[in-house]
Amino acid sequence: MNAVNKIAGQGGKVSQQAGTTGMQPQSTREAEERLALTRAFPTAMDLRERARRLMPNFAFEYMDGGAGNDTNIKRNWAALDGVELVPRYGKVAEPPPAECTLFGRSYSAPIGIAPIGGPGTSFPGAETYFAKAAQAARIPYALGVLSGIDVERGAELAPDVLWFQLYRFFRNEHKIGLDLTRRAKDAGAHVLILTIDTPVRTTRPRETKSGIVNPFKLTMRLRLDALTSPRWMMSLARNGIPRFVSLNPYVPANISLADSANFIRREQGGAFTWEEIARYRDHWKGPLVLKGVLHPSDAERAIAMGVDGLFVTNHGGRQIEALPTSIDTLPAIKAATGNRATLIFDSGVRSGVDVARAIACGADCAFAGKSFLWSLGALGEKGPGHLIHLYTEDLRASLGQLGCLSVDELHGLTVRHPGAWRLQDFAG
Ligand code: FNR
Repeated sequence: MNAVNKIAGQGGKVSQQAGTTGMQPQSTREAEERLALTRAFPTAMDLRERARRLMPNFAFEYMDGGAGNDTNIKRNWAALDGVELVPRYGKVAEPPPAECTLFGRSYSAPIGIAPIGGPGTSFPGAETYFAKAAQAARIPYALGVLSGIDVERGAELAPDVLWFQLYRFFRNEHKIGLDLTRRAKDAGAHVLILTIDTPVRTTRPRETKSGIVNPFKLTMRLRLDALTSPRWMMSLARNGIPRFVSLNPYVPANISLADSANFIRREQGGAFTWEEIARYRDHWKGPLVLKGVLHPSDAERAIAMGVDGLFVTNHGGRQIEALPTSIDTLPAIKAATGNRATLIFDSGVRSGVDVARAIACGADCAFAGKSFLWSLGALGEKGPGHLIHLYTEDLRASLGQLGCLSVDELHGLTVRHPGAWRLQDFAG
């Protein structure tokens, strides 16, 4: 039995698993290619190391660096590593499917690509490659508003799996923000995400030291840096200089990159207030998600005003390093919200086991940000598909190993979670 079939838990035919992971190889050649990739890069951290070597320094530092001393990134990883799941044997004979349902839609796995602003800085064309890979694998893709493709193009590329994330465009009574909400609906985005955890602009020292300036400018230093990476330059040639194209209808025509960045700085900023969230709730009739919830009282308040889902996240450790890890606050948020909201976990995911941990601690699914960018930096457009495959198969193996016949059964596991906050820790 070759490794592809071993992973899939099958005795010979790669196609037998169709419909379980959503992205089975179509031919022997594809299966062999996947096997070779899995041998060379069996984990997300292997992709990270290759990305570090292949990418321009500024591109790697932009995506990989956190607030302060990266403290929160390290704590996110350590806290996930510390969660133990106790298996029950005798029930599962082979890896079960990882199918799940989120907001009434079915996906091949409870794993999503998190919204990323300016991913083209890390890898030109990133959004297109993410959208295609997510659609092929049938997993959710949350397109960020600050992206190199607009929501209409996102919906063309990923009609079955597109979610849309919005920052606060507050000028003129939220004229742009509300129009983007309308466009997301017309385009067919399935879920609207309002990000609430960036009330102020914070700095990330590694990004600053790499020469990135705000607003972004391709300075001589960055150009020279980019020349060290043929793959990055090729993707730039194919996809052009990244711009935030969802905003094109609102930006005066033919203005320079710098003026366009200044326009966005004027129009966008701060974080949604509760009153503003209520307004968006009125405008958007589909599933509405708040991204950035770490306190059970915020979760309660959101649910009371009709929000359907909560992203439990510390923004991947990119905002300030003193935040709690999201895996540690998740159990208290689950205790406060019960089954009244869909809980989406992110911050620190590097494996399917991490996804299993998050779900066992109360989440309905887990998203990842940095690791999908690492995958692009390491393997170009093949990266996201490979990473989805790794995460999905690792999750299926985890289900089998833990004695779960489905993703839902993870909720019933015995969990030891040393860093978990309890609901009473939030009192006062
Ligand atoms: C982000 N994230 C983010 N979130 C958001 O709501 N809007 C955005 O525009 C961005 N931009 C962004 C850029 C980059 C380079 C990164 C790495 C992240 C946060 C993202 O959605 C997610 O919460 C974290 O990335 C999850 O943590 P991990 O998986 O990176 O550890």
